[in-house]
Amino acid sequence: MTARTLDGTALARTVRGEVAERVAALALRGVRPGLAVILVGDDPASAVYVRNKVKACEDSGLHSVQERYAASMTEADLLSRIAALNADPLIHGILVQMPLPRHLDAHRVIEAIAPAKDVDGFSVHSAGQLMAGLPGLRPATPLGCMKMLESTGVSLRGQHAVVIGRSNTVGKPMALLLLQAHATVTVCHSGTPDLAAHTRSADIVVAAVGRRGMLTAAMVKPGAIVIDVGINRDEAGKLCGDVDFAGVAEVAGWISPVPGGVGPMTIAMLLSNTLQAAELAAAATHQAP
Ligand code: GUN
Repeated sequence: MTARTLDGTALARTVRGEVAERVAALALRGVRPGLAVILVGDDPASAVYVRNKVKACEDSGLHSVQERYAASMTEADLLSRIAALNADPLIHGILVQMPLPRHLDAHRVIEAIAPAKDVDGFSVHSAGQLMAGLPGLRPATPLGCMKMLESTGVSLRGQHAVVIGRSNTVGKPMALLLLQAHATVTVCHSGTPDLAAHTRSADIVVAAVGRRGMLTAAMVKPGAIVIDVGINRDEAGKLCGDVDFAGVAEVAGWISPVPGGVGPMTIAMLLSNTLQAAELAAAATHQAP
């Protein structure tokens, strides 16, 4: 292996330490950031993710509430829970874990969250702020990828970044954040012919496809930074990403592993977003006449 590892676990620890310090500073002003996490249904993977998010809040001194509902919950009931949390002064961030059961309209649910509490950054308001280059809450996974890129010390200005994946939650916001950092950005997806022709010229590759081993050594430029957003399972049931780690690590300059890469960073940035929402709410209260 020649690539250096982008250790998401260690970097997330640093970010969470910084969050904990700012949480302590906010506590002196009588405010404790609060995150509400809503889980509908009994998807086992979602239950694990939600548990990890709630535990991370506790570890960093944030207040958190977890609400679990049966898969049969009606949309009206879910929207009314969100309305109650929107009005709750102890809650600064609301996260509805995705995917939702099929009878619930994810778009309507996300749009019901008050923009100031949209710590996932999935709403049209948050997406619009990002698109326009205005301040706002950014989706945690691409934000975590940006922190990992920052940790390499490599300037992104003028670098060619290839994002593989065009989801609203990762691919699109990732491309916008890279643009904002002055990278030259190509967005590829399942319909892109000759993906390798794009990735081979990339200084940075962010793989967010959800297909195991799709980025191989032959597709990577020597010395490139490779960030793996995928969460898949191999034949043995072991967690793995979208990148053929062993092969690509022989070519790349930097590579993020799965597990221990983007996953812990996503949680750290969710806490950071919740803190940011609480700080803004505290400032607004302070300024009120
Ligand atoms: N499901 C998988 N990742 C996420 C996430 O970042 N936020 C939400 N709300 N649901 C998810």
